[in-house]
Amino acid sequence: MSKILVTGGTGYIGSHTVVELHNAGFKVVIVDDLSNSDIKILDQIEKIIGSKPEFHQFDLCDEAKVKSFAAEQTDISGIIHFAASKAVGESVQNPLKYYRNNFFSLINLLNSFNKTNFVFSSSCTVYGQPDSLPVTESAAVKRAESPYGNTKQIAEEILVETAAVTPDLNVIALRYFNPVGAHKTALLGELPNGVPANLVPFITQSAIGKRGPIVVHGNDYNTPDGSAIRDYIHVVDLAKAHVAAVKRLASGEAESNYEVFNLGTGKGSTVLEIINAFESSTGEKLNYQIGPRREGDIEQIYGDVTKSKEVLKWQTELDLNEMMRSAWEWEKYIKANPF
Ligand code: NAD
Ligand code: WQD
Repeated sequence: MSKILVTGGTGYIGSHTVVELHNAGFKVVIVDDLSNSDIKILDQIEKIIGSKPEFHQFDLCDEAKVKSFAAEQTDISGIIHFAASKAVGESVQNPLKYYRNNFFSLINLLNSFNKTNFVFSSSCTVYGQPDSLPVTESAAVKRAESPYGNTKQIAEEILVETAAVTPDLNVIALRYFNPVGAHKTALLGELPNGVPANLVPFITQSAIGKRGPIVVHGNDYNTPDGSAIRDYIHVVDLAKAHVAAVKRLASGEAESNYEVFNLGTGKGSTVLEIINAFESSTGEKLNYQIGPRREGDIEQIYGDVTKSKEVLKWQTELDLNEMMRSAWEWEKYIKANPF
């Protein structure tokens, strides 16, 4: 059985991916420092898959620790590197935290595991506001709006340059659009820190009474209803794409040792459409008001996912209703079972 190292495996996307790797027959080892996740996520994973994955708690910025871990773990056949700091607003306030964490962890892994298959969590944020939509993988990378976004752009460059001189390193960078939703069992989902900046966690917390009304950030964009457009993707579909990426790397079919794929649905939804989808799929009424545009926001983005379908042999299966329904079931679950 092939063993995959999942860094950040107790986090939001990582935990769902651990479940899907297990379902696909992979063995998993998680490394997470729990800086943005809870140890109880391991129990939640166990409730779903029937066993607890191997887990090591340490900071991937600790070079000596990563080296000794790599020396012990000689049977790892691939790495999915989720671990990173990800809050856009915090990155503006504390850029060095982001440059330190997101680069040191990446560099330590590449130094210690240089003959490996490596899947990297990138983001559609690298496109900024694209010149044309849907955006393809060959679109220009635009100047980042935040230090967080810049870490994704530079990390991709680090990987391109390292792969170019390391024939035994095979990389797939996955550019996620907007991951939302939760596991169908409601045992896993997103655990936002403080007041959620992201739309869907704010919606579910508002609906459950933890927050006030939702503020729609702008209704004067050049979109059908004036609110901004994003490509929302169910976290379980996203998790399955990582399994597809790991399989592609293992098959040796990659066209080069650095490939990049968009992970979205290919469809854009406005903020107001998301609010409507939540109401219709859950039967809950939301309170919302229109506010000004949010600084740093782009007007609209959605991905061209042709390459992912044709080359990665992956496509999304879950629709907006399931994204909203599962996010709501998770919100109710954590209210009844606080972490
Ligand atoms: P998350 O914060 O839920 O998970 C990240 C995990 O990494 C956490 O469990 C955290 O404790 C761990 N971690 C952070 N720094 C670490 C370190 N130095 N050593 C060990 N563990 C560390 O985030 P997520 O939403 O699951 O995102 C996963 C990845 O996907 C990140 O790289 C993120 O930038 C990227 N991404 C996320 C989104 C999104 O909207 N969620 C969108 C695009 C890209
Ligand atoms: C979606 C839309 C908001 C909250 C961010 C990061 C990006 C990526 C995913 C990691 C926007 C609007 C939101 C609210 C609102 N992360 N909104 N009221 O900004 O597309 O992407 O998360 O890589 O890098 O920038 O996602 O969920 O914050 O916002 O109207 O209370 O919802 O203005 O149009 P975003 P989001």
